[in-house]
Amino acid sequence: MKITLALAAGAASVLASPATGRNQFSESSYSAEDVIKRDFAIIGGGAAGTYAAISLADKNKTFTLVEITNRLGGHARTFTDPARGVNVDFGVQLYLDTPVVRDFFNRLDTPLANFNPAYFGNPNYFDFTKQIRVNNYSQGTLGTDYVAQLDRYPYLENGIDLPNPVPADLLLTWPEYIEKYNLGDSAESIFATPANPGDVLQDLALYMFNDLNHVMLQEDQGAAILNANYDNSELYVKALAEIRDNVLLKSSVTATKRGTDAKSGVKVVVNTPTGNKLIVAKQLILAMPPLLNNTKQFDLDAQEQKILAQINGKYYYGGVVNNTGLENGNGYINVGANTPYHVASLPGVVQFTPSSAPGYFFYWYNTLQAQTKSQVESATRDTIKWLQNQINGTSAVEPEFVDFEDFSPFHLEASKSDIANGFYRKMNGLQGHRNTWYIGSLFVVGTSQVWNNTKNMLPEIIAAAQL
Ligand SMILES: Cc1cc2nc3c(=O)[nH]c(=O)nc-3n(C[C@H](O)[C@H](O)[C@H](O)COP(=O)(O)OP(=O)(O)OC[C@H]3O[C@@H](n4cnc5c(N)ncnc54)[C@H](O)[C@@H]3O)c2cc1C
Ligand SMILES: *[C@@H]1O[C@H](CO)[C@@H](O)[C@H](O)[C@H]1NC(C)=O
Ligand SMILES: *[C@@H]1O[C@H](CO)[C@@H](O)[C@H](O)[C@H]1NC(C)=O
Ligand SMILES: *[C@@H]1O[C@H](CO)[C@@H](O)[C@H](O)[C@H]1NC(C)=O
Ligand SMILES: *[C@@H]1O[C@H](CO)[C@@H](O)[C@H](O)[C@H]1NC(C)=O
Ligand SMILES: *[C@@H]1O[C@H](CO)[C@@H](O)[C@H](O)[C@H]1NC(C)=O
Ligand SMILES: *[C@@H]1O[C@H](CO)[C@@H](O)[C@H](O)[C@H]1NC(C)=O
Repeated sequence: MKITLALAAGAASVLASPATGRNQFSESSYSAEDVIKRDFAIIGGGAAGTYAAISLADKNKTFTLVEITNRLGGHARTFTDPARGVNVDFGVQLYLDTPVVRDFFNRLDTPLANFNPAYFGNPNYFDFTKQIRVNNYSQGTLGTDYVAQLDRYPYLENGIDLPNPVPADLLLTWPEYIEKYNLGDSAESIFATPANPGDVLQDLALYMFNDLNHVMLQEDQGAAILNANYDNSELYVKALAEIRDNVLLKSSVTATKRGTDAKSGVKVVVNTPTGNKLIVAKQLILAMPPLLNNTKQFDLDAQEQKILAQINGKYYYGGVVNNTGLENGNGYINVGANTPYHVASLPGVVQFTPSSAPGYFFYWYNTLQAQTKSQVESATRDTIKWLQNQINGTSAVEPEFVDFEDFSPFHLEASKSDIANGFYRKMNGLQGHRNTWYIGSLFVVGTSQVWNNTKNMLPEIIAAAQL
């Protein structure tokens, strides 16, 4: 029975392909309107891909942007309260106030405002796993001892350009690093950095410094800006309106053929809601997470296969909930009552954060394993119910989950041994290999830096298309 079904499914997908019995990379296998000739094919329409697309448009370069979901923006996610039109950003929150960020917002006619830390609410600490209120915790501040350590590694600031051999200190776990350099309070506050996914006690010092770099420190110290209407998706809605004719939404790559020299270009077969299309382009820009499980359809050579196999992503989820019984103006943060450095146990809610829409909170959820929406929401509901009791002595109100996002894979990282064996040197070395460029958040975490790096890389990518 299983075999019959598998055969039937296989036959169906062959029949559905317009290239049946013909070469799927041959233009003559497609009707004229399904062959798209462009300078660039961009895969992934999050922060990096959208920035690249708008920048290329402004340089009079042609492109097609392929995005697997029905929207642009990636980790920027916004819920809009239908009754009042008030927005809740529950993915990307803040940017560093830099010319690159301001120029991009201005370019898309999108308003910016200074961030006011009161927006995240008054912090209240609980151990959501052990179900106890934690009154004796306060988040320390990163001290000069941390900054002195950070400044030892300027090559982690705008990317990951490691010396060879890789300094052994960077491959210590963060707790090992803390002990070796006696970092005290600084150490504990770094663990409390929001949106730090996975088991932070296992995080390598390299990733702590790369993430909590001077850009993040400046954001923490008041140089953060955000969309004036708490709508970090507005940028992407406006970008889409402008480049709509060159964006394929709900589309995914089913095969690629990339040449070994610039002249041979790239061919990308894309499955779209209106059938298969062939993109014939000069260069391929990968702005999606280039994990092996996401590049199966690409014609990877042995070298690419080996390097991309070393990238791992972490699981992270988030959503918006109302009717919580939680108090507006308060944030509810998960810490470990008795764990090392008060790191919260997994899996669990990271924090509930109030929003500009009264009654609506957004939450983030950290786990070591893939979870479904209903698993995340059910666990989150249990935590809310317990909190209601803590706050009010009753748990009568029923939370209403109004939006959800799977942010996985988040924080793309390699293992200690792969890094020691030159992962980052090899990954940087893949830039331009077989007419393919990697511009997403592999070498920096924050959006401000993803945009800056994309801007810096574009001249080289454009030059490659002119060879
Ligand atoms: C909860 C959360 C909060 C964050 N807060 C901040 C913040 O406050 N400030 C900040 O600077 N950064 C923040 N970040 C980091 C931010 O996510 C990154 O800086 C930024 O999103 C990276 O951009 P990207 O384009 O590399 O990836 P993404 O934004 O993730 O975009 C990748 C895109 O590729 C698409 N895609 C994936 N697979 C395929 C495929 N096979 N084919 C086609 N398309 C595909 C995805 O749908 C997505 O649109 C946060 C991240 C998370 C998860
Ligand atoms: C792009 O083309 C427009 C219209 O032809 C022209 O005005 C503009 O200067 C060009 N921009 C660049 C960067 O070449
Ligand atoms: C802090 O409070 C928690 C729970 O309230 C308790 O278990 C823990 O022992 C306390 N720690 C200190 C150092 O007082
Ligand atoms: C919760 O949000 C939903 C969706 O916006 C809305 O329909 C509902 O009325 C809200 N409930 C409360 C109690 O505000
Ligand atoms: C407290 O409980 C009452 C009665 O169930 C409820 O109406 C109210 O919303 C609750 N408030 C909070 C802050 O939990
Ligand atoms: C690939 O694996 C990562 C975990 O490393 C996961 O987050 C992601 O959802 C997976 N992607 C696909 C397309 O299966
Ligand atoms: C942008 O990138 C350049 C080159 O890496 C770097 O010197 C500069 O500091 C970066 N600027 C910002 C705001 O990130």
